[in-house]
Amino acid sequence: MSEISVRPLTPPDGPLYREIRLSALLDSPTAFASSHEEEAPRPPEHFAERLAGKDQSRVWGAFLGQELVGMAGLHSQPRPKLKHKAFVWGVFVRPEARGLGCGRVLFEELIRYARSLERLRHLHLGVAVGNAPATRLYESLGFRTYGVEPVALVVDGVDFDEALMVLDLRS
Ligand SMILES: CC(C)(COP(=O)(O)OP(=O)(O)OC[C@H]1O[C@@H](n2cnc3c(N)ncnc32)[C@H](O)[C@@H]1OP(=O)(O)O)[C@@H](O)C(=O)NCCC(=O)NCCS
Repeated sequence: MSEISVRPLTPPDGPLYREIRLSALLDSPTAFASSHEEEAPRPPEHFAERLAGKDQSRVWGAFLGQELVGMAGLHSQPRPKLKHKAFVWGVFVRPEARGLGCGRVLFEELIRYARSLERLRHLHLGVAVGNAPATRLYESLGFRTYGVEPVALVVDGVDFDEALMVLDLRS
């Protein structure tokens, strides 16, 4: 079994990132606000741009050997009244690589980075109510639910509520 390694993805990883992102949108439609239909036609530069590190945002990739098997993103912004919080987005591990610790290692790296940015106080995320693997991962890392957004997503005519979770980076 190959070792898990995690690193920030950068623009040259654009083609790899595009491939896993489109796979994720097909595999787990209720885990993403975006859809495969929306993103598949976008040009390669669009995916590379997401990896450019704008405003200290990052996307990490989890690798088993040379293969990109997972990803997680942190979105932050410099606006004065909002710069204390960041949002986790685009969390996915390929089905065949689940249960091996990739999700946990991705989050450990993401949280370590978030803590290194002194301006950040809270990490936010949303997870579909009933998504037990993701919810358990987040709770085990210290995220707590502070609310539920009713009908956060409608996927193929089915309503999904989303639990809103926050991690206090200074506790
Ligand atoms: C959620 C997800 C990223 C977890 O990735 P993973 O690499 O399988 O997770 P790990 O192996 O690192 O497991 C970490 C923790 O997650 C939880 N977990 C993982 N799989 C689980 C399962 N099938 N049932 C319950 N809890 C589970 C456990 O708490 C686990 O910790 P433990 O091994 O110490 O018990 C993965 O299941 C996934 O990609 N799911 C589809 C997309 C998705 O739901 N994304 C999140 C959207 S908010």
